Amino acid sequence: MTKANIGLIGLGTMGAALALNIADNGFDVAVYNRTTQVTHDFHKDAGDLAAKIHTTETIEDLIAAIAKPRAIILMVPAGDIVDQQIAALRPLLDDDDLIIDAGNANFHDTNRRSESDPAFIGVGVSGGEEGARFGPSIMGGGQRAHWDRIAPVLNAIAAKYGDTPCATWLGAAGAGHFVKAVHNGIEYADMQMIAESYGMMRDGLGMNNGAIGDTLAAWDAGPLDSYLIEISSKVAKAVDPKTDQPMLDVIVDAAGQKGTGRWTVIEAQHLAAAIPAIDAAVVARNLSAQRDNRAQGETLFGAAPQPVTDITVDDLEKALIAGKVLCYAQGFEMINKASAHYDWALPLPDVARVWREGCIIRSAMLNDMADALTDDPDRNLMFAPFFTKLLTDNHGALRRVVAAAALGGVAMPALSSGLAYFDAMRTARGTANMIQGQRDFFGAHGFERITGETDQHGPWAL
Ligand code: 6PG
Repeated sequence: MTKANIGLIGLGTMGAALALNIADNGFDVAVYNRTTQVTHDFHKDAGDLAAKIHTTETIEDLIAAIAKPRAIILMVPAGDIVDQQIAALRPLLDDDDLIIDAGNANFHDTNRRSESDPAFIGVGVSGGEEGARFGPSIMGGGQRAHWDRIAPVLNAIAAKYGDTPCATWLGAAGAGHFVKAVHNGIEYADMQMIAESYGMMRDGLGMNNGAIGDTLAAWDAGPLDSYLIEISSKVAKAVDPKTDQPMLDVIVDAAGQKGTGRWTVIEAQHLAAAIPAIDAAVVARNLSAQRDNRAQGETLFGAAPQPVTDITVDDLEKALIAGKVLCYAQGFEMINKASAHYDWALPLPDVARVWREGCIIRSAMLNDMADALTDDPDRNLMFAPFFTKLLTDNHGALRRVVAAAALGGVAMPALSSGLAYFDAMRTARGTANMIQGQRDFFGAHGFERITGETDQHGPWAL
């Protein structure tokens, strides 16, 4: 029997979809799953592609089924299971056989694993089940030579922007998984801002789900054109076959999270990167889980959302445009900081390019971001002419929407923090002089004078 071009371990939703995608692109893939029945069921359901899929029942069989030098993709849950899988595989493999972790690993783990195993690489894969099956966005990390070896498979299975595969090597060790984490942080913020706009339409403007869905669909034809707006419109319009109610009305308002957004926020603090919109989105998910407290709050203080009359859906669209730019600006700033901190030389324009198709945050704006970052990768996106204009044109609406939300009691944490970030970033003389005065007052920490002298102190009136 011919040997497989590549192996894959883990036939969960994402692993199974990726294996089919690999087979669909003409490669032979050997698959292994801990539960053998899953492997056989998968093969049985693979239709025409079954001929390209080699099922194996043990790790040894899997290894024997792959052509040398081997490459084995792990699609198993992040965390200890990855370590266990590597420990089981490595002693049976040749030194130059690659182990590729394509799960949602914490990049610190990927750094550690790359350190101890020279033939280990971590790649971030985005796009959900549909993306994995028909074309994900792939953010590569690890040694460049390793990436080059598997690039023919990854380029073939990746989403395409025109003819360009959305699969790119971004940097050493955990670089790919780091970029995937920031992707997910942006994903959280983008989703939250859309949810806040939905909340304003529902509670502030009194619109029904159908009208909200139509509005989102209309936005999808403009500057907000994106996968997340498109699916949000479909979510808003969907009807529950069980109850004939709109789906949105039967879903509990508590958001799940596997933790990648949280990792991004934690890492941002380590890097001293300012990503308040992403932070607000993670906090909003945490708060959404506090259903009992929220219900108690409503009883004690009265229901918050009041009808809002002084803004329109056009204002909301513009507010979302500004919010989106600000949230991506924060994400790219964080990537830039990490690049310097970890000595990764992350190519920011390539990051924007690899996100143009396949991933959850794909959107029309990402091509303009790639252009802006090509002009100057170190400049905050806010200051790139295309985005300066978008913000100039739309921040007034963001301000009106946030103000109306505050007065009407509609919680808009991500859009509000986006506005605060915008205002902070355009205030040449801020208020940290007061912080410095306070610090010197109570701790003699010293301050810098506006004339340049450093390590200055009070006197402070006691
Ligand atoms: C993607 C998604 C994907 C997944 C995450 C997010 O890029 O394909 O980000 O990785 O949806 O698991 O999950 P949570 O919302 O549960 O954190």
